[in-house]
Amino acid sequence: MDGNGRWAKARHLPRVMGHRKGVEAVRRTIEAAPDLGIEVLTLYAFSSENWRRPADEVSDLMGLLRHYLRTEIAELHSNGVRLRFIGDTAALSSDVVAMLEQARSLTAANTRMTLVLALNYGSHDEIVRVARAMVAEAASGTLAPDAIDPAAIEARLDTAGLPPPDLVIRTSGEQRLSNFLLWQSAYAELVFTDELWPDFGGESLKRAVAAFGQRDRRYGGR
Ligand code: IPE
Ligand code: MG
Repeated sequence: MDGNGRWAKARHLPRVMGHRKGVEAVRRTIEAAPDLGIEVLTLYAFSSENWRRPADEVSDLMGLLRHYLRTEIAELHSNGVRLRFIGDTAALSSDVVAMLEQARSLTAANTRMTLVLALNYGSHDEIVRVARAMVAEAASGTLAPDAIDPAAIEARLDTAGLPPPDLVIRTSGEQRLSNFLLWQSAYAELVFTDELWPDFGGESLKRAVAAFGQRDRRYGGR
């Protein structure tokens, strides 16, 4: 979800207004997704690198996250949405950690769609945490080197149990992955759009899914 700041700047508004508009785009996108056949929707909300932003912007973003969790979970739950979180969420404020756990357990049995929020997420950090976990298991004698294969790594990623993404959409004209699901996106189709995130919504998602439908996926075969 990129382009909130540029959306605000173009209107001579403070950046936080772009982030607030971004939350509305989140709402529209989640609402449109199930009818487009999307079973899992992952939103990259806060990266492990976003801490480098000025403290007031980080605090605006965390404030918006709190507000979002407080006000939207009940409706997501009644719409059959299951919530999951990826990233080093344990490093977030304890009140946020508690809300995440509450949202996860409340919605755990829902089946209409899985919404994954990436919070304090970065692929490098995720893979480092997997490596540490595996070394600890190896040191305690519960993991043999020969048992390490792609499935063993996937079982320890934050996304364990989720399918790899078929489609990754990047907004705002940027064409890079920015540390997002690097392992999991090995065969993802990439769609780049110039639209800024606050302008994104159901129609944008529909266009991206249509572009995805035109792709010929070969997974290294021919
Ligand atoms: C993305 O918009 C919002 C988050 C990081 C949560 P940006 O804040 O990166 O917007 P630009 O890139 O400055 O336009
Ligand atoms: Mg940006």
